[in-house]
Amino acid sequence: MNNSIDEFVEKIGAGKSSYNMKKRNIPLSVPNLDLDILPYIRETIETGWVSTGGRFITEFEDKVKDFIDADFTRGVQSGTAGLHLSLLALGLQPGDEVIVPTLTFIAAVNPVYYSHAYPVFMDCADDLNIDSLKLHTFLTEECTFENGIVVNKKSGRKIKGIVVVHVFGNPVDMEAIMKIAEEYNLFVLEDASEALGSKYTEGKYAGKHCGTIGDLGVLSFNANKIITTGGGGMIIAPTEEMADRISFLATQAKTDPWRFIHDEVGYNYRMTNIAAAFGVSQIDKIEQFLTTKSNNYFRYKTVFHEHGMKILDFNEGTNPNYWFYSLMIDEKEFGMNKEALMLKLMDYGIQTRPIWGLIHQQKPYLEHQAYQIEKALYYADKVLNIPCSTNLTTDDLDFVVKTILSLKKN
Ligand SMILES: Cc1ncc(COP(=O)(O)O)c(C=O)c1O
Repeated sequence: MNNSIDEFVEKIGAGKSSYNMKKRNIPLSVPNLDLDILPYIRETIETGWVSTGGRFITEFEDKVKDFIDADFTRGVQSGTAGLHLSLLALGLQPGDEVIVPTLTFIAAVNPVYYSHAYPVFMDCADDLNIDSLKLHTFLTEECTFENGIVVNKKSGRKIKGIVVVHVFGNPVDMEAIMKIAEEYNLFVLEDASEALGSKYTEGKYAGKHCGTIGDLGVLSFNANKIITTGGGGMIIAPTEEMADRISFLATQAKTDPWRFIHDEVGYNYRMTNIAAAFGVSQIDKIEQFLTTKSNNYFRYKTVFHEHGMKILDFNEGTNPNYWFYSLMIDEKEFGMNKEALMLKLMDYGIQTRPIWGLIHQQKPYLEHQAYQIEKALYYADKVLNIPCSTNLTTDDLDFVVKTILSLKKN
């Protein structure tokens, strides 16, 4: 614990500081943007390169590639678009199945549906990421595996791959996942939308960034992500061939771009030069954002811990980006449930958010198979995400903590 955290704990612990407890405006997560981006935006206007071509796209792709030490990167319109293209490039066919987590943002699952394939929902482990043990049990006990093909006994359909999500920037146990994928000949799509900057420090993948281990990885740069382009995403590919295939599909699958010949159905999923101009400016600040995210996480964690409350840990053997902070609200101990607390905090201008509605319980997916979902229900009931923007001041943090503790029963 460093001095500033010590002081913070003391201040909060004393409970008699001179906070202004009046309503403030502390959103959950807002972008940290600066006007120093304006010359780049000006350039897009002056040159007319505002659409899906222009120097910022390749510059941003290269900068992200260097930062995460990836082989190939390609900018796309959104993380969702990136996931859709990835599934197609990985050879997912209509009628196939893909194993997906139920505890995630729905964008990790919808692209399976767009591809006319079927999701099979898997539980999470205590790190909120897909449970690799259950995944293995499911494949062993509920599927057949012959001639390199996994078939789900229940549906009779082929299972082609696994989508893993590094939830809240917490790196998935990729060693376990890749081992299972190898054993069962499945593709692994890493949804690293929330995990730019998260990496492994121990084990087989020490030094590797989230998104660079599976068959393909995807990042998102929407407004609540650690860096933002307004809206945008990036695909991380291990080979140029794969990256080119994705670029091809993202640009309407032009077999002959001059004569407009299309031998396949493509998509308009390319990143714009304006978005990339934001990205070029934002990626230069990522180290600073990562430091702030980590400092704020430990400030919260320390003081909540001192008061008998728990913020979920990130996995050991990793250096995560500390993107979102998960406060556990136990109704019996706290005196109200997370929903009531969330509403109460609004009176003080503090925006918090429950974890996502589990995807297997969402209307479009009610009929789809969900395998022994237990922990996801537990965490969905208890996790409240608290403000985590990188432009939060120390005073904002104090206010959030102080307000939450003031609402806790003694
Ligand atoms: C886990 C996860 N997957 C996918 C996405 C989709 O990204 P985008 O909003 O860029 O489409 C997001 C973020 O929004 C996300 O958090």
